[in-house]
Amino acid sequence: MKILITAGPTREPLDPVRYLTNRSSGKMGYALAEAAHDRGHEVTLISGPVSLPPPEGMIVVKVETARQMYEAVRSHLGGQDTAIFSAAVADYRPVAKAEQKIKKTGETLTLTLEKTEDILGSARSVFGFTGYLVGFAAETERLLEHAHDKLARKGCDLVIANDVSQAGIGFDSAENEVTLCLPDASPFPLPRQTKAALARELIAFITQQAALKKT
Ligand code: CTP
Ligand code: CA
Repeated sequence: MKILITAGPTREPLDPVRYLTNRSSGKMGYALAEAAHDRGHEVTLISGPVSLPPPEGMIVVKVETARQMYEAVRSHLGGQDTAIFSAAVADYRPVAKAEQKIKKTGETLTLTLEKTEDILGSARSVFGFTGYLVGFAAETERLLEHAHDKLARKGCDLVIANDVSQAGIGFDSAENEVTLCLPDASPFPLPRQTKAALARELIAFITQQAALKKT
């Protein structure tokens, strides 16, 4: 199977020395890419800036901004069987990048931001992707409600929901605990485990479900 995976945060420049970003180490996305490669899949990893070494044996495309990630997904999505969107994409970017460093003049500073491209939300509606589509939902409240809303709104086959208000899971930690949300089944919680172990379990599940969708 050919699998495209997005991972890591994006950076939206404000001036030559500053940017807006999201908390994301990229560990979950990189673990998924490794697990998919180990299972024999052909992997394309589209990664925002992370401090992890690039995994071997796959195509790795490094990007910075949400717009660059959008363009990279657009150009690599054709021919993929499965796409897993684990990146923590910035939702807004400064409308313009200041050419010079912004000086500390006033007591307050107001930034004007504009929405970025919704990459996962474009997979079906803009890019015409018909393969198996997986999104993530990192939430601090009403986890399953928000996850099911994303499942429907973005046309996903699976949303992996992640309660990021709990200590010791998500973000920079080595472990994660997620619930699988599917269109026509009850939410399925998986036990807390290392991101590597969880990635293997998720890739096994996704491999099976994607094959079922094809037949
Ligand atoms: N996503 C994306 N492009 C964006 C925003 C999100 O591809 N511009 C993807 C993420 O990679 C994730 C899923 O959409 O798989 C859900 O991301 P999330 O931030 O939880 O959802 P949003 O639609 O941005 O909604 P909100 O942040 O308001 O909860
Ligand atoms: Ca978001």
